[in-house]
Amino acid sequence: MATFSEVKAILDGLVAERDLVRMRNKHGGAAFSWDNAESLRNAVAKIDLVTPPYPLIDPQHVNNGQADQTYLVRLLSGEIEEENLPRMPLDGPYATSTQIQTIKDWINEGALDDPTPEPEKCARHP
Ligand code: HEM
Repeated sequence: MATFSEVKAILDGLVAERDLVRMRNKHGGAAFSWDNAESLRNAVAKIDLVTPPYPLIDPQHVNNGQADQTYLVRLLSGEIEEENLPRMPLDGPYATSTQIQTIKDWINEGALDDPTPEPEKCARHP
């Protein structure tokens, strides 16, 4: 079971050395975000004015074993030559296969929010 927190830590780690404002701008602005699970589910990369935005995680590939087909997983794994897209993050360092597997698991398990922890129950007020 992969959690969003794990996915966020991986993505944040991959770009830890980058200028995040510049990176966000290069992908079209605020809609390129993984601040929380919902932003990542809806995230898109707009790279120029003519190409339609690329969804990072197309909902049709969620929860059905098709995480491999999302742009997020495809671009972390390698370039997409036919669409002229380089491997992400541009020039690396790139995700390890274990990190990519965690992201795939999260998408294949439904790309869910993390569960909110149960409040501690007091023994006298069960
Ligand atoms: C649908 C998904 C994505 C698309 C279509 C995409 C596309 C692109 C393109 C076209 C560039 C510019 C390449 C150039 O200047 O030659 C770029 C730059 C970059 N991308 Fe992505 N990208 C995607 C996802 C990601 C993700 C998930 C990350 C990080 C984990 C990432 C990190 C970067 C970085 C760090 C740069 C360099 C930004 C800079 O110039 O400072 N991208 N991306």
